[in-house]
Amino acid sequence: MGKCELLYESENHKVCIFTSMMPDETIQTNQYLVIHKDSAILIDPGGYTIFSPLFAEVSSKVPLKDLKYIFFSHQDPDIVSGMNGWLLSTNAQLIIPKLWTRFIGHIGLKKGYEKRVIAVDDKGGTINLGDVELRILPAHFMHSPGNFQIYDPVSKILFSGDVGASVGQNYLYVEDFENHKKLIEGFHRRYMANNKICKLWANMVRKLDIDIIAPQHGALFKGKENVNAFIDWISNLQCGTDIMDEIFNQ
Ligand SMILES: [Fe+2]
Ligand SMILES: [Fe+2]
Repeated sequence: MGKCELLYESENHKVCIFTSMMPDETIQTNQYLVIHKDSAILIDPGGYTIFSPLFAEVSSKVPLKDLKYIFFSHQDPDIVSGMNGWLLSTNAQLIIPKLWTRFIGHIGLKKGYEKRVIAVDDKGGTINLGDVELRILPAHFMHSPGNFQIYDPVSKILFSGDVGASVGQNYLYVEDFENHKKLIEGFHRRYMANNKICKLWANMVRKLDIDIIAPQHGALFKGKENVNAFIDWISNLQCGTDIMDEIFNQ
């Protein structure tokens, strides 16, 4: 377990997923490595507990000098707590939401790390992986107030961070969305900010040509039918502040 599984492969472009690397009691995370020619980006590298095994896996897939970027979608411990390890053992640049850059010193990063940080403005942007332009899309308040996702136009994968996360499934790809809903509902209802933001996100990603939605936890949505089913579902979801009345009006 934990070895790379290929989500996409062509002559110059590969996308790997690493799953099941964490100790049993820790929430499961997916890590993604996109390799284009001699450049690579690691997307949401998981927490401190998986740093060593993931580092070994990544180094077996690409020469470390090719690891150009490490992307941190937001500030949660299951994403940033291994940051120091990556910073000290690679020369990669760290892509971080600007909103969180002043906080990351608390992880213990050495002075001078600022030079290796790419702080992403709220609007997002693009990043060049060799001659491929990856898009950095805003996904604020889903769930973190400063949160981004990456869209790879070659593999047509949207790396969606916590959006689409499931817990408790034993499959890599969602086969039956209706049946899968019970594994995503609790998390999204409590962690996503509200229906307004879900709709804004849904309208933005509907404009993309997506083959796979690849979240940071659990199963992936593959194929137009599953991708659209998830987007439709979340655009109608009542969540977060929409459902707080019952908590505050006790
Ligand atoms: Fe999170
Ligand atoms: Fe997460």
